Amino acid sequence: MSVIEGKKAKEILKKAEFIAVLTGSGISAESGIPTFRGNDGLWKKFSPEELSSFEGFYRNPAMVTEWYRYRRKIILGTKPNPAHLALADLERIVAEFYLITQNIDRLHQRAGSKKVIELHGNIMENYCMKCGKVFDIEEFDCVYEKFEDHVPRCECGGYIRPNVVWFGEPLPEEAFSEAYKAAVNCEVFISIGTSGAVRPAADLPRYAKYNGAYLIEINPERSYLTDIADLWVKGKAGEVLPQFVEEVKKLKGMK
Ligand code: OAD
Repeated sequence: MSVIEGKKAKEILKKAEFIAVLTGSGISAESGIPTFRGNDGLWKKFSPEELSSFEGFYRNPAMVTEWYRYRRKIILGTKPNPAHLALADLERIVAEFYLITQNIDRLHQRAGSKKVIELHGNIMENYCMKCGKVFDIEEFDCVYEKFEDHVPRCECGGYIRPNVVWFGEPLPEEAFSEAYKAAVNCEVFISIGTSGAVRPAADLPRYAKYNGAYLIEINPERSYLTDIADLWVKGKAGEVLPQFVEEVKKLKGMK
């Protein structure tokens, strides 16, 4: 059975040379990384105010540092799943392709995707809040070992924090501007594994749709975006995306 249903969807995908994709935590669920909302979501067990905000870090930097170290360890033990690999494949077959992600896990890059726009930063890096120095995993671990209170500080004395966007913080300007341009200029926008609950990332599919793009959603459940999607491919990303990409190749006469 085809996952690209309808004549219009087929016609548009056959011709589309500019595709933008937005991914959320759902795409990494089949790699074993929990999503945020829903019954097994991280925010059911942990408090975003305590663990994912500047105020939380200010109150208890050791706890926040440990939480990100714990999550980084889990993420480093996972692998890209067939959905990540299918997106790397899709990038190779269209002229212009942008992969915008809210995920901090770097699984898209590990799957081979090249043009990845990280809207919420990434968990592999940390930076000094005073001088801005960036620490990769090894550098960070080396500094971390030196502080018994589990609150690593930079040589300049500044606190070192994960390179992720916390609640209440703006998105990295350049990344959002690039994502915005991709959304308003693309022919097809595909939203995968995101609830569409967190703005401004969740605005991107809307900007795309209102600027004439065909909006596709891939998600096993309804989201805040489902009602505006032109096509909802209902299913788990790891199961339906590989088939979706194969079908796009066939439509384009590549198979
Ligand atoms: P959510 O937890 O809000 O939503 C996950 C979405 O993935 C839901 O719509 C699920 O139905 C869907 N899903 C679950 N399993 C899936 C699968 N196998 N294939 C496809 N979809 C699946 O996560 P996000 O939308 O990513 O921000 O959350 C957005 C932001 O909220 C995150 O980046 C994070 C969080 O707070 C920050 O930390 C700044």
